[in-house]
Amino acid sequence: MKGLTSIRTLGRTDLEALIDDAGEVRRSLDGDVPIERSLDGMCVANLFFEPSTRTRLSFDLAAQRLGAHVVTFFPETSSATKGESLQDTALTVSAIGADILVVRHTEEGAPQAVAEWTGKPVVNAGDGAGEHPTQALLDALTLQRHFGRLEGLRMAIVGDITHSRVAGSLVYAMPTLGLEVTLVGPDRWLPAEAPVATSTDLDAVLGEVDVVYLLRVQRERGGVIDDGYVARFGFNGTRASRLRDHAVVMHPGPMNRGVEISDHVAESPRSLVAEQVSNGVPTRIAVLRSLAVSR
Ligand code: NCD
Repeated sequence: MKGLTSIRTLGRTDLEALIDDAGEVRRSLDGDVPIERSLDGMCVANLFFEPSTRTRLSFDLAAQRLGAHVVTFFPETSSATKGESLQDTALTVSAIGADILVVRHTEEGAPQAVAEWTGKPVVNAGDGAGEHPTQALLDALTLQRHFGRLEGLRMAIVGDITHSRVAGSLVYAMPTLGLEVTLVGPDRWLPAEAPVATSTDLDAVLGEVDVVYLLRVQRERGGVIDDGYVARFGFNGTRASRLRDHAVVMHPGPMNRGVEISDHVAESPRSLVAEQVSNGVPTRIAVLRSLAVSR
């Protein structure tokens, strides 16, 4: 791969190859088997213009496990506060010697622009309401490990779809991998032209799905939690009890407990949230080393 700015650049075979590789890495990490240092001596730069916990830390650790040096850019203590543009920042980081850039930004398309300006491989770690490709990959790995397959699984993605970059990547990756996806939320958060089924009635789809994927309301992107939201779409114990026995609940984090997910559900045996986080490092190792191989 030359970079991963959009999950849409990958076909089914590419997605499956990355998920398989990430699965192998996960088994190695679980068994304390060392990972080949495929990025030995290289430099990975993390450019995070938006807050992050799990994504930044897991890219950081993934790069370190591959033997790379990691430099991290924090906008609030950088020359961005003196008015330096994204382009000048990217060119500076590239000139310092970064071999791979991991970019999170408020603007959709920023990672692609950084790739064009620098000519370096760029991984999109979340661009505005655009995409979050490694999140979709780690979610697919989580489901593959849990169910032993992806083909034919039925997934409801629930909440603030239009402002969610996680949904932006899932809505392509999951159907490409053979899942049947329904987007569920209030009318105002459903895309006008969705490539998959949509519903405004969460309770109507609960009994039919294998996976409920909850999204955080993106207040920073204009998502407003109105009075009826929690009653209609909040996922609580009552709703969980209407799921099929084997069905699971996922969330990319950070969770807003008491809004899209209740404490009870977040901590219930159905929740794969901790597994999703655990699959972050192996998935990012698989992505980063696929970039090193094709350099
Ligand atoms: C998501 C993000 O930042 O896009 N978090 C993550 O990376 N796991 C989801 C969110 O912020 O709601």
